[in-house]
Amino acid sequence: MSASLVIQFRNNASFLAVWTLSASLLLGILVGLRRLSRMRKERETNTNSRGGDEIKLPFLSNIVPFKGLPIYDKPEWPRCWKAGKYQLTMGLRKLDPDNWMTFDNQWEIEHKAKLEYASRKDKETIVDYLDGEDEAAVELLEVIVTYITRRYPDMFCLEGDQIIIIPIGERYRIKAPYDRHPLETASLLVMDDLYILKQGEGDLYYLRGAFLAAPTGWRLDQKIGWPLHQIHDPVPLWKEKLKKSMERFFVNLKVNSPIQRNNLFVQPCGEIFHHDRFESYPEVKRIEDLWIRTELQSLCRLPRSKAVVFSVRTYMAKMTELKEEPAALERLWDAVRNFPDIVSEYKSVQLWKDVFEAFCREELGKNEPEIDANTRDGVTTAYQPKACPAGFT
Ligand code: HEM
Repeated sequence: MSASLVIQFRNNASFLAVWTLSASLLLGILVGLRRLSRMRKERETNTNSRGGDEIKLPFLSNIVPFKGLPIYDKPEWPRCWKAGKYQLTMGLRKLDPDNWMTFDNQWEIEHKAKLEYASRKDKETIVDYLDGEDEAAVELLEVIVTYITRRYPDMFCLEGDQIIIIPIGERYRIKAPYDRHPLETASLLVMDDLYILKQGEGDLYYLRGAFLAAPTGWRLDQKIGWPLHQIHDPVPLWKEKLKKSMERFFVNLKVNSPIQRNNLFVQPCGEIFHHDRFESYPEVKRIEDLWIRTELQSLCRLPRSKAVVFSVRTYMAKMTELKEEPAALERLWDAVRNFPDIVSEYKSVQLWKDVFEAFCREELGKNEPEIDANTRDGVTTAYQPKACPAGFT
C-alpha cells in the first residue's frame, strides 16, 4: 500500500468515526429531549391529581373554590327554553367547570331522601350497578371527591380514607374496603343523579348503573343494561332526529371535552321523584299546582376506564315564579304552543294546558304570545352557554 493511500484510508476512517460519533450524539440528544418532554407532560397531568391518585381530567385543574357553604343559596335554575318552532336537538355546550356539581337550599331535603332510597328493600329500582366495584365506579368516586373538595372546600374535607360532609358531620369511605358501593357514595355526596355508561356491542353505549333520585316516569330496573336508543324509544322524533348524532357523539366524546345540556318539562305537581308516568296524573286546576322541571345535564368521559358519566341536576320551580319574568313566560307560552301533537302527548300537556293558557293571558295581558326575534332564545341566569367543542348545537 502506498503512503498516500494509507493517509487517504486514515482520513476516511477518522471521518467515518467522527460522523458516527456526531450522529449518535445527536440521536442521544433527540431521545433525551423526547423523554424530557414526555416526563414534563406526565408531571403536568399529575398536578391535577390528589394524593398520588392520577385523575387526568383537565377541567379539574381549573376550579375556582366556592367561599362558604352553597347550601343556603336559592336554586339558580336554568331558563333553558326557546320560543318558536319545536326542534329536537342535542343542544350541547362546553362544560363550565364551576357549574358541574351545584348545591343550593334544597340540598338537605334531597340528601335525606337519597339516604332513604339507598336503604329501601326495593333499592334496585333506584340505585344499582351491574359491574361490581370496577374501575369505572371507583374512578367516578375519585373524580367526584376531587371536584367537590376543590370546589366546595368549606363543605367537604378529607380525613384519611374518608370524606366528611362538614355541615352534618357525615363520613364516607372513599377507598376500599368501601362502606357503600362507590357509585352510591358518589351520588350521596352531590345533588345530581349519576349514571355510568359503557361502550358495548355494536359500538353502542349501554347504561351500566345509576342512582336515580329524580326520575320522570321510569324505574332503574326497567332500563338498566339497555343501549341509549332503547332507553329513548318513547321520546317522540328521537329515532328520526337524534339517534344517529347521539350515537356518534358518545363514540367521539373526548376526555378533555366534557359537555352540558338542559332539559325542560312542565310538571302537573311539585314532587321531584316519579316512578310513574305523568299521563295517569289528575288534571291541574290551579296555576299554583303547575311546576317547571329543568335539568342541568353533563356528560364526561373518565380518563382511565373510558366510561361515560352522565349527571343530571334537577330543579323544581313553581310556574308562578315566572310572574316576575314576563319575557321568559312569553317564550315558554310560545314554545308550548309550538309543540307538535305527538310531543304534547308525550309531555302530558292536556293535563295543564287550560290553566297555563289562562295564566299567560292574564299575566301578559294578551291573547297570543308575541315574540321579539332578538330575545326568542332567552338567556339562562346560571351561566352564559359556551359553544360545544364537538360542534353540536
Ligand atoms: C346527549 C345526550 C342526551 C340527549 C340529547 C338526550 C335527550 C333526551 C330528550 C330530548 C328526552 C325527552 C325529554 C322530554 O321531552 O322531557 C330524553 C329523555 C330521556 N333520556 Fe335522554 N338524552 C341524553 C342522554 C341520556 C342519557 C346518557 C341517559 C341515560 C340513561 C338518558 C336517559 C333518558 C331517559 C330515561 C329519558 C326518558 C325516556 C322516557 O320517556 O321513558 N338520556 N332524553
